[in-house]
Amino acid sequence: MVAAARAHGVDAELADVRGFAPGPDTDVVVTNAVLHWVPEHRELLTRWAGELPTGGWLAVQVPGNERSPSHTIPRELLASPAWAGLVPEGLPGYGVGEPAEYARLLAAARPGGVVDCWETTYLHPLTGDDPVGDWIAGTTLRPVRDALDDAGWERLRAELAPRLRDAYPPDDAGVTWFGFRRVFAVLGA
Ligand SMILES: C[S@@+](CC[C@H](N)C(=O)[O-])C[C@H]1O[C@@H](n2cnc3c(N)ncnc32)[C@H](O)[C@@H]1O
Repeated sequence: MVAAARAHGVDAELADVRGFAPGPDTDVVVTNAVLHWVPEHRELLTRWAGELPTGGWLAVQVPGNERSPSHTIPRELLASPAWAGLVPEGLPGYGVGEPAEYARLLAAARPGGVVDCWETTYLHPLTGDDPVGDWIAGTTLRPVRDALDDAGWERLRAELAPRLRDAYPPDDAGVTWFGFRRVFAVLGA
């Protein structure tokens, strides 16, 4: 992504988001699907809200789907006796909050700021034999993939597939309408 941005003339650099601080010339801070990987993101948002210059904006989007079957099914499977110990960490828990929690946090951190927080569930039309398994293999399950050898990973995918298909059955046209909830928080300083 950094290389692609640079190729388009954007001055991009790779860094840990936890070390970022808005400067006096910052117009807008945007994080898209990143802060759920940062357990201490509430402290980060509080700090950024205070550091934003007047007139600056903060815009955040995080997945809010931890209670969806796409997460509860692998979490329960990995916690079952057959899998206990194979992935000691289990499925990572993001600890993403509700929109109202971020609204309260930002309003308290930046008195007088404009706060707008909401949620949206996007319906992604997916196709294939194991479309939700393929989706989470590239996102949610990546730390789990890293903890397993190839045989363990194939076994996990095989055990998850029928469970995910039951939770997300395809329609008559073969399309699986995968609901993905996302939480948004915007602050105008
Ligand atoms: C789901 S991707 C989103 C990427 C991009 N923002 C987009 O919208 O397409 C999550 C990204 O967060 C990055 N990430 C996770 N923790 C991070 C951290 N502490 N600092 C910087 N990036 C981090 C990952 O490397 C990954 O590129």
